[in-house]
Amino acid sequence: MTEPLLQVRDLSVLFPARRGAPPVKAVEGLSFDIGPGQTLGLVGQSGSGKTTAGRAILQLQKASEGSVKLLGQELTTMRSGDLRRMRRHMQFVLQNPYSSLHPRMTIGQILSEPLQVHRTVPANRIRERVEELLELVNLDPAMTRRYPHEFSGGQRQRVVIARALAVNPDFVVCDEPVSALDVRTQAQIVTLLQSLQQKLGLSYLFIAHDLAIVREMAHRVAVMFRGRIVEMGSAAQVYDSPAHPYTQLLLDAVPVPDPVLQRERLRRAPPDLRFLDGDGGACVQGVDHVRAGTSEWHEVAPGHGVSCRYWPQGRSAAA
Ligand SMILES: Nc1ncnc2c1ncn2[C@@H]1O[C@H](COP(=O)(O)OP(=O)(O)O)[C@@H](O)[C@H]1O
Ligand SMILES: [Mg+2]
Repeated sequence: MTEPLLQVRDLSVLFPARRGAPPVKAVEGLSFDIGPGQTLGLVGQSGSGKTTAGRAILQLQKASEGSVKLLGQELTTMRSGDLRRMRRHMQFVLQNPYSSLHPRMTIGQILSEPLQVHRTVPANRIRERVEELLELVNLDPAMTRRYPHEFSGGQRQRVVIARALAVNPDFVVCDEPVSALDVRTQAQIVTLLQSLQQKLGLSYLFIAHDLAIVREMAHRVAVMFRGRIVEMGSAAQVYDSPAHPYTQLLLDAVPVPDPVLQRERLRRAPPDLRFLDGDGGACVQGVDHVRAGTSEWHEVAPGHGVSCRYWPQGRSAAA
């Protein structure tokens, strides 16, 4: 085993009560490693805590408990100056390429900014580095004087990726990086992220609610439900032999590309979306113990774990 690049242990984020709203345990007891050049896919429905987990790992959100080590260094207790220096090792690619680029800055300015902040290249080499970055994401290096609105959604997301890579990070959190794009563009960006990983040895935390895309990207997959990881394993283990009823339901809800097959499948077994909405009373036993946080972690197979009181009976016991 190689040393993990990122080590997360018992990470929790509690949003305190606000006027009229109770406190929210958005993330609870998250633990995982990501090795160099590896991708961990983080899946789960909207509101399960994926973005909060990514922000807490990058120290953009304060954790209430737990440890995050990047390159062997503890981030949660780091002083702000040291943390600022660590930032060039970890970057964020966000979902929406429309809102994450400043509309009044040229592409050249957008890509120079991180280079100036982190002083990773001398001032007289910034222009060269910007052109190199555009080439890296398969954009024309002559585009530096243009503005974000002159670009398509896919091109903007390439600029967002180039900006994240400007400082040569080791680790990138990709938070739903293709969700706002059409299907063809999604495939192109996924291919780009994969080739960049190979070329640069990047590690990714790849967050998505789209399970098909995660399967393509991820070496390992963690399934989140209400702030907790309920199942984790290799992509093949989680997709081919899901152990948690929630994972099974998430997989059942993935549409099949063939519309005739899809209609037939839905007729035979409609996915229980009440469960996916978290209305646990409606169906599977699996829900309640996850909510109560009382489950133990069981090893299903080497490298494949599940947090389910009913395992190994799993779904059959719950049905
Ligand atoms: N700044 C915040 N203040 C209070 N609650 C928040 C905040 N950010 C997120 N939440 C809550 O935390 C939970 C997880 O949200 P989020 O991490 O955005 O989930 P996901 O990315 O999986 O959709 C949700 O219940 C959300 O309402
Ligand atoms: Mg999110």
